[in-house]
Amino acid sequence: MSAILHPSPPLDLAFVDEAIAQEGRSPESLIPILQRLQNHYRYLPNEALRRVCALTGLTPAHVAGTASFYARFRRTPTGRHHVRVCHGTACHVAGAQHIMDSLRRDLHLPPGSDLTPDAEFSIEEVACLGCCSLAPVLMVDGRVAGRLNAASATLAITQPAHHP
Ligand code: FES
Repeated sequence: MSAILHPSPPLDLAFVDEAIAQEGRSPESLIPILQRLQNHYRYLPNEALRRVCALTGLTPAHVAGTASFYARFRRTPTGRHHVRVCHGTACHVAGAQHIMDSLRRDLHLPPGSDLTPDAEFSIEEVACLGCCSLAPVLMVDGRVAGRLNAASATLAITQPAHHP
């Protein structure tokens, strides 16, 4: 993992204009617009939300409130690999917090951040992933890894080819 931080390129806001042109400017269009932005940017950048307000006339409180209300919308950037660690009941009982703590330590996540300094990995706690018999479970880039311990959880995301 490189420790060098690369400055983020300026956000291309043309996609926001496109999304609004497709979905419309009414309050009912807001969730479909946010979904398009989330799919495109992989989170909801503040600059994009400000552009939504400017083009739709919706208030910042309304847009920010909607963006924060739904768990599927992320307000912080994701890494190139996004890791979802299940904290549903079965996984919680099987040691999900221990998995989370060891991943944070092994990936050198700064306190309070869910993104590694090189933006390679982001980590998110999620509700049941629907494969409780494999608890504890995580999902990385859409692939499930289960029956984890601290060591195998790190391997599952850093060396996926070696993890079943
Ligand atoms: S509780 Fe983790 S997969 Fe169901």
